Amino acid sequence: MGTHDDGRTRAWEAAGRHAAALVNDGDRVGLGTGRAAAAGIRALADRVADGLRCVGVPTSKASRALGRELGLRVAGMREPVDIAFDGADLVTPGGLIIKGAGGAIVRERVVDASAGRFLVLVDGPKVADSLDAWGILPIAVIPFAADHVAFALAELRPTRRAGRSDDNLVVMDLAIPAGSDWTELDGRIRGVPGVVDTGLFRVDPDDVLVGTPDGGVRPLGEFAREARG
Ligand code: A5P
Repeated sequence: MGTHDDGRTRAWEAAGRHAAALVNDGDRVGLGTGRAAAAGIRALADRVADGLRCVGVPTSKASRALGRELGLRVAGMREPVDIAFDGADLVTPGGLIIKGAGGAIVRERVVDASAGRFLVLVDGPKVADSLDAWGILPIAVIPFAADHVAFALAELRPTRRAGRSDDNLVVMDLAIPAGSDWTELDGRIRGVPGVVDTGLFRVDPDDVLVGTPDGGVRPLGEFAREARG
């Protein structure tokens, strides 16, 4: 706790405010899951209190509960959303991202993939040149196949999380060896019957918003160039 965490919270809030400011009147808005997305939901609720009309499509039960509590209109997934915002665990300057620390990857995929614009909300410590800096790939698996998938992917040392996802799926964390080709490995993992989805996403780097503790926001490309000096 203390100054460091306060700084990160301010950074996520800045990114969340920026995303909420990009919502247009009448939009259907994908509501992501996690701390940064929650900051976006709060900022969106502030705009709704000021008269903005929109419908939120939550990516998890937790985000649905937060949206409702804050007075947002929420709906299930049907037609594509106009815009979505969501967090990530790590992003690379090229736009590969890892999601899923919160276990909501499948609903996040469904909502975020449909979005006319998908915004990713992070802060500086989540930007790295390689996904190896995170080293973990979460996967969602149907319960019937959980033991089989763990056996098939034993070389990646699957760790099964306690409980189930909102869709009653088993979530496992895979340890990806440093230096792996994540995209190729992701394809192989998806090919194991019973795997529903993984936490590897690809996004437009221009739509990754990096919040900073001073309340600013930079697009990923600009942030990465500055970080490299
Ligand atoms: C939820 O399943 C995740 O994909 C989150 O969006 C991700 O873990 C980022 O969460 P935080 O913003 O809480 O770090």
